[in-house]
Amino acid sequence: MAVERTLSIVKPDAVGKNVIGEIFSRFERAGLKIVATKMMHLSKEKAEGFYAEHKERPFFGALVSFMTSGPVVVSVLEGENAVIRHREILGATDPKKAAAGTIRADYAVSVDENATHGSDSTTSAEREINYFFSKEEVCPRTR
Ligand code: PPS
Repeated sequence: MAVERTLSIVKPDAVGKNVIGEIFSRFERAGLKIVATKMMHLSKEKAEGFYAEHKERPFFGALVSFMTSGPVVVSVLEGENAVIRHREILGATDPKKAAAGTIRADYAVSVDENATHGSDSTTSAEREINYFFSKEEVCPRTR
């Protein structure tokens, strides 16, 4: 199995629910390692750039507005098949369709405020990680 990295975001709704540690615990229990993390309040420009591929979609404005409504926690997770495993732990984008026991089933209420983001491929992960972190901020685990 391939060791991969993926980008994870705890979105403003989940930060507001005070479940950052609970979400991190679920990643760690699944064997994913946090190799970079920071809390930030995204500017409109930073959020628009991150979601640029969705700029023609009808919800783009609402998505940017939500993502700038409070702080987020942006992290890089590392582990075997990290991209897919992380998305499995998050559950479906629409919490109404998310499997029981997933983060979105437990903490999200709607598709427009869905608690978390996870990269959808290794290609997206590389781009998204570089969007938020410099090389020096990502710390490979030696033990
Ligand atoms: S996915 O998983 O990327 O295929 O999901 P997708 O449906 O393409 O949605 C992309 C991101 O847009 C968010 N989204 C919305 N925001 C606000 N309002 C509505 N209606 C809405 N529908 C989708 C969705 O949460 C995805 O955000 P990320 O951060 O990528 O998970």
